Amino acid sequence: MQLMKDKVALVTGSSRGIGRAIARAFALAGAHIVVNHRRTGGSSHAQAEELCREIERGASRSLMVQADIAQKDSVTGLFSEIKAKMGRLDYLILNAAKAPFKPIEKLFERELRQLVETNYIGNIFCIQAALPMLEKRGGKIVFISSLGSRFYNPSYPLGSMKAAMESVVRDCAESLRGKNISVNAVCGGIVKTDSFKILRQYWDNIDMLPDELFVEPEEIAEAALFLCSEAARGITGQTLVVDRGLSNALYRMPGKQENVIPGE
Ligand SMILES: NC(=O)c1ccc[n+]([C@@H]2O[C@H](COP(=O)([O-])OP(=O)(O)OC[C@H]3O[C@@H](n4cnc5c(N)ncnc54)[C@H](OP(=O)(O)O)[C@@H]3O)[C@@H](O)[C@H]2O)c1
Repeated sequence: MQLMKDKVALVTGSSRGIGRAIARAFALAGAHIVVNHRRTGGSSHAQAEELCREIERGASRSLMVQADIAQKDSVTGLFSEIKAKMGRLDYLILNAAKAPFKPIEKLFERELRQLVETNYIGNIFCIQAALPMLEKRGGKIVFISSLGSRFYNPSYPLGSMKAAMESVVRDCAESLRGKNISVNAVCGGIVKTDSFKILRQYWDNIDMLPDELFVEPEEIAEAALFLCSEAARGITGQTLVVDRGLSNALYRMPGKQENVIPGE
């Protein structure tokens, strides 16, 4: 299926984890992919290069751009390069995130600034810079959120930024309606990526969660793909929760763990 043939998708933070799965899914659907990551050199750079090679082995083109979304000049450079080398942008997937794991009241000033600059301001820089290309083609924006936007997670200040961005999704869906751009979010459950390895150090009983309740990166990717597809043309301003029912089961009382696994 080449539903997105000749379209171009930018996936921020796609060197690894969920972003990588999203880039792969869009490439499989026929889109050309802009692979973005933050760190210069190192494993992230190598992983981004490997992903680009994989995409090029299929029918799609790829463009790898190192850029820090928290820096306005860097974002301007990212979008100039997309315009110059790909000529268009159809899908903006706001996936990149970086935040300390610690209680909000213990954040140092530089951590607090980094939290907001990467996970709120950086996403808005990307939306602003993408508009001239997106509006020409009835583009789509999908933000990747997490359950921290609506539930308490220990030492997870990123949750407050996810809540703010879900609000931005609702806001922009209305303000960009006239430009024929749809804006939605996917709110993912818990996914075993690199950031999960850190999360589990702060979340005492996370290892008690049954395997069935962990979400695969590909499940988030397919939801993002759906929101960019013609099948989702009636959807804008929404956040689709992809958590294998975890949040639906949260109300259950302690001691009822045997009921938590759906389908058993
Ligand atoms: N893991 C989960 O359980 C989970 C659940 C729900 C939602 N999510 C969300 O899904 C998204 C991806 O999560 P993940 O676990 O896959 O993350 P991850 O493994 O930590 O990967 C993060 C990616 O974002 C990039 N990045 C970080 N800061 C950036 C910046 N300032 N500019 C550009 N790129 C930047 C990283 O590049 P470098 O390596 O070069 O820094 C990397 O490619 C995040 O928005 C996260 O909040 C995660």
